[in-house]
Amino acid sequence: MADSLNADGLNTGGAETAPSVDYRALFENAPGLHLVIDRHFTIVAASDAYLSATMTVRRAIVGRHLFDVFPDDPADPAATGVGNLRASLERVLKFRQPDPMAVQRYSIRRPDSEGGGFEERYWSPLNLPILDAGGEVRWIIHRVEDVTQLVGQQPVDAFQQLTNEQQAIIDRLRSINRSLDREILDRKAAQQELSQARQFLNLVIENIPGMVYAKDATTLRFILMNKGGEQILGYSREEMIGKTDYDFLPKVEADAYTRRDLEVLASGELLVIPEEEIVNRAGEKRFIETKKMAVYDPRGRPEFLLCLSEDISARRDLEQQLRQSQRLDAIGRLTGGMAHDFNNLLGVITANLDFLIEKVEGDEEATSFAQDALDGALRGHELVKRMLAFGRQQPLQPEVFSLNDAVTGMKGLLRRTIREDIEMSVIPAVRLSPVVADKSQLENAILNLAINSAHAMPNGGKLILETENVRLDDDYAAQNLDVRPGDYAMLAVSDTGAGMAPEVIDRAFEPFFTTKPVGAGSGLGLSMVYGFVKQSGGHIKIYSELGHGTTIRLYLPAVMQDAAPADAVSAALEERRPATGTVLVVEDEENLRRAACKMLKSLGYTVFETASGPEALTYLRSGGRADLLFSDVVMPGGMTGLELADIVRGTWPRLKILLTSGYSEVLVRESSERLDDGIHLIGKPYRKHELATKIRELLEAG
Ligand SMILES: Nc1ncnc2c1ncn2[C@@H]1O[C@H](COP(=O)(O)OP(=O)(O)OP(=O)(O)O)[C@@H](O)[C@H]1O
Ligand SMILES: [Mg+2]
Repeated sequence: MADSLNADGLNTGGAETAPSVDYRALFENAPGLHLVIDRHFTIVAASDAYLSATMTVRRAIVGRHLFDVFPDDPADPAATGVGNLRASLERVLKFRQPDPMAVQRYSIRRPDSEGGGFEERYWSPLNLPILDAGGEVRWIIHRVEDVTQLVGQQPVDAFQQLTNEQQAIIDRLRSINRSLDREILDRKAAQQELSQARQFLNLVIENIPGMVYAKDATTLRFILMNKGGEQILGYSREEMIGKTDYDFLPKVEADAYTRRDLEVLASGELLVIPEEEIVNRAGEKRFIETKKMAVYDPRGRPEFLLCLSEDISARRDLEQQLRQSQRLDAIGRLTGGMAHDFNNLLGVITANLDFLIEKVEGDEEATSFAQDALDGALRGHELVKRMLAFGRQQPLQPEVFSLNDAVTGMKGLLRRTIREDIEMSVIPAVRLSPVVADKSQLENAILNLAINSAHAMPNGGKLILETENVRLDDDYAAQNLDVRPGDYAMLAVSDTGAGMAPEVIDRAFEPFFTTKPVGAGSGLGLSMVYGFVKQSGGHIKIYSELGHGTTIRLYLPAVMQDAAPADAVSAALEERRPATGTVLVVEDEENLRRAACKMLKSLGYTVFETASGPEALTYLRSGGRADLLFSDVVMPGGMTGLELADIVRGTWPRLKILLTSGYSEVLVRESSERLDDGIHLIGKPYRKHELATKIRELLEAG
């Protein structure tokens, strides 16, 4: 130690220039209580601190034997100080290792000047060997700490103090433990709160009406898709997550979408696409409104693209209906006004022609001119009447009658008007509710419809007139702007003709809209029917698809005779009987599908909904359960309800089959050779109790 101090400690430039160090002074003045003894326990040196702690002076102790200087208190027979210290020093000599000693009670002789006797002291000693070159112990440094202060204040309580300290430590540990416990609980609560919040958010996103999805900002892969998205697009989220638009769309379209996504990510602005047409998995067109925005990470870089879309197909339908009916109203007012004026003019013309014919009686040539002019004027009169009817300005003469009587009464006239190659049948409903309307106008309407059907079947076909009691419910009214919910008597005129394209259906009621060659049609037939039905508080609906024939339904408000007809009571009972079983619904029209499923569920059935035949088959092939297949007949996407029914009957013979169609039941039945007793039909729109009865009959038939 001393050597190393000399060599390194105060080196200021080289060994020769090192200042000499007074080690004795250093040792004696150093803090700490140090005593140096030789092998024989003779005191060699002592630090000043030691001397003062032991109330001795250097010259009185150096050169004397340790235990002569510090004997045990002869008055204390329990004293162990000398014995313990000697044992420790012996160990140092023997093992040549430092020997730390436990705290010792070792009383010190008080100088006579201080009153003599012994003073009780406690020491914490350490004995260190200093070895010579041969490895033998040369000196022992006896270093002590006077711990009397610590122990001595409450000498008997030394142990107590220790215990107190331990207790304090234990208490502190306990309190640390408690606060740790609390922290863990707090953290658990926070975690639980977090996971609850997350669950809540998930639920919100999942159930938000509409499509919510997110794409990774760099790869544009889908990273989130909610239930609404699955429904709109027709793909499950498992099929979509991790994929890009290129996995679902033709390249040109995917390119366009991708470009737009990148623009949104780059610009950071919200993009609103008010209306865009998409084609879903089943091949259906849907209209959606989309909002896209970039979401940034804490460093401000785009992290993902968030998109919200709403299916606006239904709203768009209604808007179109509204526009359509507003347009028809406007044209109606115009047409009606014009027709009035023309009617008056024609009145003048025909009256005068009548006079003229009387006047020129006998003059054959003049008579024939006047007669031709009169015929023309009368035809004009007919047209004007139709225009008036469309403008709802026809004077009506309402009476109470049954549509059955009107239809049956017209059989003869129709038969004579319609070509021979057209087979005609009339199917009147039992106990049909009467209506209030202008009967001759209704007959006119029926004639117009029958003639249209005949035109649509140039090579022959079937014409069917059917009547039925129908309740148009709130759901139906919600989808058809002009309908007041309630009971109606319905007349359906169906044909197996060419059918109408959607754009023809859209415009068919417009006056002067015709697809017939110039001169062949005025385009006023359906206009007249429309105006008449509207003026009578009724509703008219065209159901037609190109190549599949046409059914046009007229609904006139029913006149209720009995407060609660037996039918209504049994209908209510039928609806209330609990039902069981699983119904597999196949319907491409989303609104109709929703309505059907709602009805079935409220009747007690378990429902699985699909939008197409192939989708239904996938469900069945994957082991999906079903007791009854309830399918639309005409669906886009290549497979009709009849084809689906055929496959189902072959593979799952126990599955009951109920088809539904907007076409007349007879029409569907007759237009398909494949239909037999195994397949049942219910016409659209159907009422809940009718559906309930039909399904129950089928399921109970075993
Ligand atoms: N049963 C039907 N089948 C197919 N298309 C039809 C049918 N009924 C009407 N249409 C279509 O609707 C259009 C309008 O019919 P509407 O009765 O108003 O006029 P029109 O028959 O052409 O002429 P008009 O009745 O004045 O002689 C028709 O031109 C036709 O394209
Ligand atoms: Mg016509």
